[in-house]
Amino acid sequence: GEKPRTIDAPQPPAEEKVILTPKPGPQPRINGPTVYGARPRRPFLYRIPCTGTRPIQFAAVGLPKDLRLNPVTGIIEGRTPVERGEYSVILSAANAHGTAKRPFKIIVGDTLALTPPMGWNSWNCWGCAVDEKKIREAADSMVASGLIHHGWQYINIDDCWMVRLNSDDPIVGGPRRDEAGRLLTNKRFPDMKALTDYVHAQGLKIGTYISPGPWTCAGYEGSWQHEQLDARQFAAWGFDYLKYDWCGYGSIVPNPTLEQMKEPYRFMRMCLDRVDRDIVYSLCQYGMGNVWEWGAEVGGNLWRTTGDIHDSWNSMSSIGFGQAGTEQYAGPGHWNDPDMLVVGKVGWSANLRPSNLTPNEQVTHITLWSLLASPLLIGCDLSDMDQFTLDLLTNDEVIEVNQDMLGKQASRVWKDGELEVWARPLWD
Ligand code: GLA
Repeated sequence: GEKPRTIDAPQPPAEEKVILTPKPGPQPRINGPTVYGARPRRPFLYRIPCTGTRPIQFAAVGLPKDLRLNPVTGIIEGRTPVERGEYSVILSAANAHGTAKRPFKIIVGDTLALTPPMGWNSWNCWGCAVDEKKIREAADSMVASGLIHHGWQYINIDDCWMVRLNSDDPIVGGPRRDEAGRLLTNKRFPDMKALTDYVHAQGLKIGTYISPGPWTCAGYEGSWQHEQLDARQFAAWGFDYLKYDWCGYGSIVPNPTLEQMKEPYRFMRMCLDRVDRDIVYSLCQYGMGNVWEWGAEVGGNLWRTTGDIHDSWNSMSSIGFGQAGTEQYAGPGHWNDPDMLVVGKVGWSANLRPSNLTPNEQVTHITLWSLLASPLLIGCDLSDMDQFTLDLLTNDEVIEVNQDMLGKQASRVWKDGELEVWARPLWD
């Protein structure tokens, strides 16, 4: 709500970066969701987020029998049980300063993402300048910065990892699929399986991106007519998350009916259901056809409600406050997605710069996205965050609002001009 200023009007003082997040104590504190969805008999990976001085000794009571916990790293791995149902686990963490316990219910059924996904995505920082090294660095930084102790989990590769259509460039050009029709990566991603193994070894998950059309938004190979093969390939590589971005599909149906908008998303859902892996499914089509009204019906775990975000007050605030009215469509396993975060260093290219949001605007951004039960995908360079950015992303009380197990998105309960009050119920 910027007011026009005349030349001699006093300028407001530059905002200070006020730190509002308390420092974590030396005693253990377990963070992260208290409910977790998984499908029967699928590979399972979860690293217990926990602050406190290392070494910490982790334990878990009530784990289903084919899941094992590494007491030193806090990583739980294995396969979920065949039997559907709720498995009530008590996690604990102990060090020289104390012990923490936290309930963690594993719900084995059909629904993933019982709380909004939290992680990082390459787009808002690197754009198409992304490569394998940057993804490894993001995973390393997620751990080294301590973000991992606050519930951040996914490392997601966005566009530009495939081969680019009609390109002579020796790095991103070349054959786009092998003789069997399987997707090939471009030379910036020489070994996808080694990359997913690297990320998983740290207890993190990894996501990928493609389009249902013949090409992606940036003109790289899409899944059109290879959907099942691609779903199988994503599972074989070990991906845990797929962002499925409309773009090139516009060339298949330029003026889609509502049914035609749903069709490619429903189809990829069916393909994902057939592979031996839990893959969180993110719909990206910028809100066409009021996607919030049917995103869950076609099997999406989240769906973008608007066009792309930018690091300006106008973009962030109109997207964020514009979510009013969509709250009834969000809930455990199916979330409105007002797009990725624009705090920290961003740039959509190899050239990064600090976010253009002022410090207070950044506080508003993180607070609002938490209230909105939005997926939280960090968009900045994780290897280059200042203390202010890190504090914005590690406030456990704020994150706990976002991850509340009721999954109720806040609604606007009062408005007078530019003043608004938003509220949401929490489980307790
Ligand atoms: C679209 C999406 C963005 C990003 C780019 C990649 O613009 O909305 O989030 O994935 O494509 O090309």
